[in-house]
Amino acid sequence: MDVLQALTQRRSCKAYTGERVDSDTLHKILAAGMNAPSGMGKQSAKIVVLQAPEEIAALERMNAAILGNPDLHPFYGAPTVCVVLANADVPTCVEDGSLVMGNLMNAAWSLGIGSCWIHRAREEFSSPEGQALLASWGITGNYIGIGHCLLGFPAKPYATPKPRKDDYLLLR
Ligand SMILES: Cc1cc2nc3c(=O)[nH]c(=O)nc-3n(C[C@H](O)[C@H](O)[C@H](O)COP(=O)(O)O)c2cc1C
Repeated sequence: MDVLQALTQRRSCKAYTGERVDSDTLHKILAAGMNAPSGMGKQSAKIVVLQAPEEIAALERMNAAILGNPDLHPFYGAPTVCVVLANADVPTCVEDGSLVMGNLMNAAWSLGIGSCWIHRAREEFSSPEGQALLASWGITGNYIGIGHCLLGFPAKPYATPKPRKDDYLLLR
């Protein structure tokens, strides 16, 4: 798909079938994420790819608890969850991690894969439970959560995008 087409037509997927993205496609999406620009080229971000249902369910429970309702399913049944973290010792960590998220979502769209940014990674990984999870993944250092990028196949049609707001641009 043409790059401009992907960037202007991408939409968030908020319902997934259980089918996983094949490994080749997944690695293309991850390569796009890893090649996002970063402040001073420091590559402060890190991507943790979760595919085991029990690992995804455990993180989803943490996310739902932060939302205040353990019965919610904020990961929408996605079979793959890419957790984007970034090293808080780097001043551009939030910008770096956010660009990784954008690249992942846009690359996914260009390959016909559904994606969505799910929030509250910051809260998750600053909690004792989240810190323990990082340790269990062998991640040491001052990492903060940036976002979760869900990946998978859409289980229902995409919502119609809102028109862009009138004052989005100021062309001078
Ligand atoms: C920083 C950020 C946080 C988001 N968090 C959530 C979230 O927690 N749950 C969710 O369903 N969508 C989340 N989204 C997706 C937005 O709802 C979505 O991007 C927005 O409604 C615009 O729709 P579109 O992506 O289809 O253009 C998030 C998006 C961004 C950029």
